[in-house]
Amino acid sequence: MLLQILTLFPEMFNGPLRCSIIKRAQEQGLVEFRIWNFRDFTTDKHRTVDDVPYGGGDGMVLKPEPIISCLKAVQRDNPPGKVILLTPQGELFKQAIAREFAAEEHLILICGHYEGFDERIRAWVDREISIGDYVLTGGELAAMVVSDAVIRLIPGALGSDTSAQDDSFSENILEYPQYTRPYEFEGMTVPDVLLSGHHARINDWRRKQALLRTALRRPDLLKDLSLSAAEQKYLEEKLNETTFGNREEVK
Ligand code: ADE
Repeated sequence: MLLQILTLFPEMFNGPLRCSIIKRAQEQGLVEFRIWNFRDFTTDKHRTVDDVPYGGGDGMVLKPEPIISCLKAVQRDNPPGKVILLTPQGELFKQAIAREFAAEEHLILICGHYEGFDERIRAWVDREISIGDYVLTGGELAAMVVSDAVIRLIPGALGSDTSAQDDSFSENILEYPQYTRPYEFEGMTVPDVLLSGHHARINDWRRKQALLRTALRRPDLLKDLSLSAAEQKYLEEKLNETTFGNREEVK
């Protein structure tokens, strides 16, 4: 995958792209990053990227010319890319969108900054993405979040292909609790079923824990799941065992 990022702050990407799985994915040739500073596409002496808003008001607005000139250069010698604008006004980023993006050969992420950008930039954009209902100082952190979530889904990016399947949200369900050694830590022990070596029972326990955790923490996700009658019964029983407001963790 070719992942190109248009930003006024290329240096912000230095850290995250040079670590861990993202670094390895680049070394393995699974993804190539190209970071562009659209200030380099200004034509005036002061390298101006923003201007006052027509109609008045506070703050500055990103001008269309540098961003669109940069975008045209970025697209010139490559197969067409999906152009994504990071903005708090965009569609809320979800795992399903990460999966869609992971199937693309070429993504172009545009990071806004300052108070906003000229509305006409939107004519070049395929999709607008927000990473949450809060306002960041710019789209850079959002672009890193999107890049990270997408790259780890590229086959081969994680150590084993199954590790992405068990993720929280891969099936719109939260992940089951995990334990490692020691068996006892500060008086807390590991559930015995995990030591049983009985894979069917372990899988059954994990599925139930995942469902229960989802029901307790993110009941909004449950409506999209197709549960078996037995799973439904299990959840009802477990949720009835405890009174509302005292559901932090049901064993
Ligand atoms: N730019 C500023 N805030 C943002 C957000 N929440 N998501 C994506 N881009 C942004």
